[in-house]
Amino acid sequence: MLSFNYSLKKHNTFGIDVNAKYFFTFQLINDLQSFIKNKKYQNLQKIVIGEGSNLLFTKKFDGVVIYPQIKGIELVRQTDDFYFIRAGAGIIWDNFVEYCVKNNWQGTENLSLIPGTVGATPVQNIGAYGIEAKDIIHSVEYVSLEKGEICKISNKDCKFEYRNSIFKNELKDKIVVTNVTYKLNKKQLLNIDYKGIKDELNNYKEINIQNIRKAIIKVRNSKLPDVKEIGNAGSFFKNPVIDKNLLAKIKEKYPETPNFEIANSKYKIPAAYLIDKCNFKGYRHKNAGVFEHQPLVLINRGNATGQEILELSEIIQTKVKQVFGIALEREVIVE
Ligand code: EPU
Repeated sequence: MLSFNYSLKKHNTFGIDVNAKYFFTFQLINDLQSFIKNKKYQNLQKIVIGEGSNLLFTKKFDGVVIYPQIKGIELVRQTDDFYFIRAGAGIIWDNFVEYCVKNNWQGTENLSLIPGTVGATPVQNIGAYGIEAKDIIHSVEYVSLEKGEICKISNKDCKFEYRNSIFKNELKDKIVVTNVTYKLNKKQLLNIDYKGIKDELNNYKEINIQNIRKAIIKVRNSKLPDVKEIGNAGSFFKNPVIDKNLLAKIKEKYPETPNFEIANSKYKIPAAYLIDKCNFKGYRHKNAGVFEHQPLVLINRGNATGQEILELSEIIQTKVKQVFGIALEREVIVE
């Protein structure tokens, strides 16, 4: 279905009120292919959105917003070790997690309550509490926006990195994810090392995926604002990675700086710490603000424009650069 001059307010978790020139929803791949072949829309800019939970609109979108509504969850095959579950791109991610947990299929539970859809999981390589989508994705099916061809790529070809994939680079705005197949391990490989989760699980009699989901929901709700109440897009910036020399320099002034060594003398620093240290918790800029319990989350304090939120993000980037010499990179996509 195609709509004209369509408000995106309900389609982005920041709740920014801008219009899309065209808004196209579909349930069947055939309908998407017919739309792609229609010459009238071929030269317009196109973006795909799920729940709009990682997007900041700063102006009217003068092209086509594509909103996939493919549903359906299917156990397509199983081996002695794995379940292969294929899910439609339009399914709300947390509904999928809930379904898996009910069926006792383990692997998605740490990603409970992350806003967004199944189709966004490979794009953004969503992650939380020690698990990333790349750990459970087997393959991704998509349709190319140029010719309408159906393609399928394996986990390896998705070029997954921290909050990054081929879909944010070479294939950006060129494809529509239609289905994702997850490969879930039948063995118990529970990942409960994250401190806050471990502590919360002490309150439960048994450690199983049902209780891990409950614990994660509790911890997330205590730290992150509910998008239904306060417009936000989760972490606005990525956690930066810096080298040994810069870390040493920062530690001279701030010895307590948290850091996690990743490959070859590179260290990941929590962006929340850097922003917190610059005293931005609860900071306000026009109708935009910094969430007081988790400063990595920028919020719409009511009727903020995308531009105001973007300005706030730039104020933070400038200050963090000045104080720590670190350039924070956005996780959120700005349109
Ligand atoms: N911290 C502070 N002050 C604060 C909050 C945190 O200094 O007010 C420091 C602390 O040192 C803390 C550290 O930041 O130990 C990490 O904080 P937290 O555990 O909340 O995680 P995060 O690194 O801020 C990342 C993801 C989240 C994900 C959580 C849990 C990114 C950009 N963010 O946040 O993902 O839920 O870990 O795994 O990697 C998202 O991507 O939208 C998102 C919410």
